[in-house]
Amino acid sequence: MIRRVLSFKNSAALWAVFPFFMLGGCSDANSVDSAKPSLPVAETWDWSAYLPMGFPEPFVPADNPMSEAKFQLGRHLFYDKRLSGNGTQACASCHFQHLAFSDGRSKAVGSTGELTARSAQSLVNVAYYASLTWANPALSSLERQAMVPLFVEDVGVEMGVNENNKTQVLARLQEDAYYVQAFPSVFPDYPQAINFDTVVKALAAFQRGLLSVNSKFDRVERGEELFSPTEQRGKQLFYGKAQCVQCHSGFHFSNHSFNANSHRVKRSYHNTGLYNLDGQGAYPEHQQGLIEVMPQKSNMGKFRVPTLRNIALTAPYMHDGSVATLEEVIAHYTAGGREISAGKLAGDGRENPFKDPLLNRIDLTAAEQQDLLAFLHTLTDPTIATNARFSNPFQTETTHLDFTSSKADFYE
Ligand code: HEC
Ligand code: HEC
Repeated sequence: MIRRVLSFKNSAALWAVFPFFMLGGCSDANSVDSAKPSLPVAETWDWSAYLPMGFPEPFVPADNPMSEAKFQLGRHLFYDKRLSGNGTQACASCHFQHLAFSDGRSKAVGSTGELTARSAQSLVNVAYYASLTWANPALSSLERQAMVPLFVEDVGVEMGVNENNKTQVLARLQEDAYYVQAFPSVFPDYPQAINFDTVVKALAAFQRGLLSVNSKFDRVERGEELFSPTEQRGKQLFYGKAQCVQCHSGFHFSNHSFNANSHRVKRSYHNTGLYNLDGQGAYPEHQQGLIEVMPQKSNMGKFRVPTLRNIALTAPYMHDGSVATLEEVIAHYTAGGREISAGKLAGDGRENPFKDPLLNRIDLTAAEQQDLLAFLHTLTDPTIATNARFSNPFQTETTHLDFTSSKADFYE
């Protein structure tokens, strides 16, 4: 069985298992129907077409360079239910465009009906994280991460691809005329181009291109707009008295960010005092964060700092979706943690011994909380939900061969 969480030390073992899946029945992957139009040759990818001043280029692994054709292939795969074991679920089943690629639930539901352990994350600007998911430093690339939803079988099956159905999954892709042309064209170096290695690479390329740079915050930074007085006060709180910037820092609003120019990769994790089940800091099972992969006691309840971009679209909040609204998140910080008075989860998170001491310094009046909320709303990029480049290609295409979306669509 392929497990979600292995100790960080042993994580190499997890990746050693995956190559097993990379091979598959791909006998006629190269049989292209000559009647179909041929695909555009992969052109070079120009980040400056997507990124205004102030946004660094994301890091791209040398063995998976970006191209428009690869991005579009990844986009198709992302929305394709045939990629799950039983054919019922796509990546997009838990990552909806209109919710900035989160799912609006506290826990996601997988292809076999199981609940995931944690809340599905937004994928917008995901290229800028030094490691992925709520708390796993071993998942240091989008290529690696994509294997988790595809293959992992413990603590919540997602796509449910396994030994028994992996050949069938690839066979489904081989039946599609678009894939039969697109895979060999995007991955000419593979003798059998439809395989899980190329699937994962194309998915990663699509996600690297899921960029959000057009929030009100960005427009104000670029001098195109002004904040309202309440937003302006909220900004001052965010970068000052409210301490938020100490962790939600930089253009990515996360201290866990990295890019093509990063020399040092910082991966910091913090406990924000959500739980204290035993009076000694315990978080609930499967919700314990970094300690699940790096078993030092002090890692209890520590999670990666999530970006705050598009935060108004991604409720409910925190790793387990246990905080319903942004008002409640701000109240949580103002209280210096969360006290749960009754039930299985009872305990005073404010007294969690592993809680980041910064939280004790956050003290906001009701009016200040309102201002901070107004500022958080300026981080929403209204183009994300509707940007045609990121949308489901299967809804609009009859042939699956429409490569007409141009880079200009991005700013629509
Ligand atoms: C059943 C729902 C479900 C499906 C299907 C699913 N995901 Fe997710 N996704 C999640 C959950 C839940 C998390 C948080 C995982 C965690 O921290 O344990 C997540 C996290 C992620 C992350 C990490 C984001 C970050 O901020 O670090 C990426 C990237 C991602 N998913 C990509 C994909 C891709 C690619 C696919 C398709 C191959 C996919 N997901 C399919 C539920 C899903
Ligand atoms: C000590 C570091 C730290 C500070 C300071 C901090 N945060 Fe966070 N924030 C985190 C971490 C870590 C999480 C994820 C915690 C979890 O899921 O258990 C988080 C989660 C959030 C979330 C939910 C994100 C999501 O995707 O669910 C919001 C919203 C948020 N913080 C806003 C703020 C605001 C506003 C401030 C200032 C008042 C602030 N944070 C201060 C570390 C911090």
